[in-house]
Formats: sequence, structure tokens, C-alpha cells
Amino acid sequence: METSTAILENKIAKGLMEKIDSHTAKIIVVGVGYVGLPLGVHFAEDSFDVIGYDVNTDTVEKLNSGISHIGDIESDRIKPIVDSGKFRATTDENEIENADIIFICVPTPFTRNKTPDISYIERATETISRHLKPGQLIVLESTTYPGTTVEVVKPSLDGKGFVEGKDYFLTFSPERVDPGNKTFTIANTPKVVGGMSPVSTELCAKLYAHIVGEDKVVQVSSPTVAEMVKLLENTFRAVNIALIFELTFLCHRMGINLWEVIDAASTKPFGFMPFYPSPGVGGHCIPVDPYYLYWKGREYDFHTRFIELAAETNLRMPDWVLQRITRVLNRGGVAVNGAKILALGATFKPNCDDARNSPALRVIELLLHHDADVTYNDPYVPKIELGKRTEDVAPVLDHTIALESTALTDELIEGADLVLCLVNHDDYDWKQIIGKSRKFFDTRGVSLAFAEYKDKVSLL
Ligand SMILES: NC(=O)c1ccc[n+]([C@@H]2O[C@H](COP(=O)([O-])OP(=O)(O)OC[C@H]3O[C@@H](n4cnc5c(N)ncnc54)[C@H](O)[C@@H]3O)[C@@H](O)[C@H]2O)c1
Repeated sequence: METSTAILENKIAKGLMEKIDSHTAKIIVVGVGYVGLPLGVHFAEDSFDVIGYDVNTDTVEKLNSGISHIGDIESDRIKPIVDSGKFRATTDENEIENADIIFICVPTPFTRNKTPDISYIERATETISRHLKPGQLIVLESTTYPGTTVEVVKPSLDGKGFVEGKDYFLTFSPERVDPGNKTFTIANTPKVVGGMSPVSTELCAKLYAHIVGEDKVVQVSSPTVAEMVKLLENTFRAVNIALIFELTFLCHRMGINLWEVIDAASTKPFGFMPFYPSPGVGGHCIPVDPYYLYWKGREYDFHTRFIELAAETNLRMPDWVLQRITRVLNRGGVAVNGAKILALGATFKPNCDDARNSPALRVIELLLHHDADVTYNDPYVPKIELGKRTEDVAPVLDHTIALESTALTDELIEGADLVLCLVNHDDYDWKQIIGKSRKFFDTRGVSLAFAEYKDKVSLL
């Protein structure tokens, strides 16, 4: 990537570019959670000096003692960078003053009424503007509606009287981290960058090139385009998942095995991408982000009907799982009330510890609401709390229940009226589990490889 004349002619931008080139730019990551921590760790491992700034004192203390609180980052990656002085965490906002690069990786949830809650971005931006200095590059990574960087972040930073693209630099670059995904990490996933000015885009592209390589940095014309890219990616998933959920309902009625259909359709080498049935959508992206676009669209008198329809369909799935389980038990002469159900998995996707908005929790809660005797196991989640009102979830239970993950023994499996696969963690030996189960309800297709057990298996 050759440096443009626009940068060479701007002393401040040129100085920052030299620091980026020589790995001497000081980085601060505002919000070191699922997104911010991996980002900070990658830059620290690439010999940049990185500080993780977070308002959570627990997180900061843990990180400074070399302990990771995020499943995707092992503690043995934190310790060496803390020991070498390349990474440390802080709750002191004054540290922002000494940084050259500031990443914003704070949460963007929605309110109870499913409107965007960008208060974390607003607070983080206010904090940064208090310490803004010429020569700093600010990169917003939090997922948000198109227009946030231009309409919310920039006006707040401009308050200091500095000029974007000349004195300071502002970009949006959506995070694409996929917790639990061992194949695609920050290091090999292309990074989209959209700056307020061409100079900002170029500086930010150069920075990310250190992590992903120059050929994997995708420059777009504005932060608004980059914001929309992220929402397109997640809305695309939400809508396609909803289509598969709708076909799950239909294929069940028609007696067609949808899993077989999807596998056969996947042999088409172009124009098809498989999505699979599951107990629902979860996490902080797919159930949340499309609402950001839906909300923003209304400002333009536009109703994004696909988004609404997808959200509604996706929300129905946990109830459908309950309905199917009820029928399976009923056929065996067992009522849901009092049925011993062993639920396997509590997270929203396999091989990670993230149980936020998890449809597995919703299914367990629905079963408890119908007085089933539920035990759960998840190697990644030692404890769950159900029935709690959060901004994201309206509970069905009128009281809270805390459950602890129970050790998975043969006795436990054999004693259950129904073993329920909610998450396909690789840690589980499905052949052995299904073999020991009396009845097995499979929401993830883990039983498909074991035709010998088909008489006791019900597939979503
Ligand atoms: N988790 C994912 O898989 C994922 C993937 C892609 C994008 N995203 C997006 O990335 C953003 C961050 O998500 P996350 O999952 O990392 O959230 P998280 O809750 O794991 O981490 C956010 C961190 O920010 C801290 N924080 C909040 N306000 C702060 C402030 N004013 N100053 C400093 N620190 C503050 C919190 O204490 C927390 O440690 C969200 O917009 C999310 O939608 C998440």
C-alpha cells in the first residue's frame, strides 16, 4: 500500500502513518469484551503497545493478572503480553490522552421496546472527546445503525474544535469476530474500513493491514457504508435462518427430513448457502442488529418487512421446540409436568461460553414453566439464571431460578425421560450419549450420523 500524497502533505497524518508503519503507535481499546480483547491481544502480539480501557474493574484486574475472561482468548495468551509490558488494562480514562489509536468496542444492545441503545457509544465518545488530541485515529468497531459515526460520534469529537481528516481521524470498521470459530479469527477475516475522509480510511487500512494483511483490507467510501455492510451481513443471516425455520415447520408437517434436503441442496456449487434448523437465534448480533436497521429505516418512512418477519419467525422457534418435545413425551405416555429432561448445552452457539440471549436458555425456561424437571449440562457454562427480566429478554417465568451444570454421567443420561440436545459442542460424545438415552430430541442434527438409534431419536 503506497502512502498517498494527501497523507504526505499533512504533517499530522504523516506522523501517525510513520508510527503505524513502525509499530510505535500506542493503542487503547475502549471496552475489552468479546470484541475488544481479541483485537487488543492481536495488536499486542504484533508488538504494538496496547492498553485495554474498561469501566469494569473486575475485568481490568483479571487482565492485569494475566487472566482472560473471554473463551476465545486463552489466559496463556494474556500472560506473555502482560509480562512483556505490551498489554495492560486500566480504568483510568486519562490514559486515552497518550494514545495514537483509539478503538471503541462497547456494547450496542437494544431497549425493551427493541429500539437501539447507543448510550454506551455516546458515553465512550464523550470520554474520548475529553481527552482528544491532534494526531489521534478513532475507530468505531461496535455494530450500530448506518449514520452513527457521522451523526453521533463525529459531532461529539468535533466539540473540541479539531478538524476531522486534518487534526484527528475517524473511521468505522465493523467487527466480524465469531466466538468459537477456530477457522476464522481476526487474523484471517477481511476487514472493512470506511473513514470520514480518505486520509482516515487510508490510515486505518494501513493499521489493520498489520493484522490481516494488505490484501484483506476492504476500503469503502464512508463510515455509513461500512456500518451498512455489517447490518447487511447480519440481516442476511437473520432472514435466511428464518426461512429455514419456516421450512422446518412445513417439512415437519409434510413428513420431509429438512436436514437431508439441505445437505443435498448444498451440493450445488453456486448460488446456495446452507443454513440449518436450531432451537432459535441468540447472542448479541443476529437477534439485535437487524432491529437497528428496522428502526433507522422508519426515519425514512420505510418499513423493512423482511426484517420484521424474520424476527417474528425466529422468536417462534423455542416455542416450537417445546411443542415438539411435548408431543414426543406424550406419545410415550409421559406428561411434560414432572418429566425428567436432561438439556445439553446452554450457549447460543457451539464451542463458546457465550450464553447471552441464548435460545437454549429460552427452551429450558419454557420447559420449567411447564413444570418439567430439568437438569442441564454445559462444559462452558457452570451456572444459569432463568426468569430474569433483562433488556433483551421478557421472561416467561414469574420467578427466577438458578441452575448449576450437572456432571454428565451415564446414570444421569439413562435416568432422563428425554435427553435434549440444544447445543452441538464438540466436547460431547453424541454416539455414547444417544446410545445411553431412552429418548433423544435433537435440535442440531447431531444424531444424523447414527442411524442405528433412529427409533429413539426425534429430529427438529
Ligand atoms: N460478541 C460478538 O460476537 C460480536 C461480534 C461482532 C460484533 N459485535 C459487536 O461489538 C460490540 C461489542 O460487543 P462485545 O460482545 O465485545 O460486548 P461485551 O459486553 O463483551 O464487551 C463490552 C465491554 O465494554 C465495556 N464498556 C462498556 N461501556 C464502556 C465505556 N463507556 N468505557 C469503557 N468500557 C466500556 C464493558 O464493561 C465490557 O467489558 C457490540 O456492538 C457488538 O454488537 C459483537
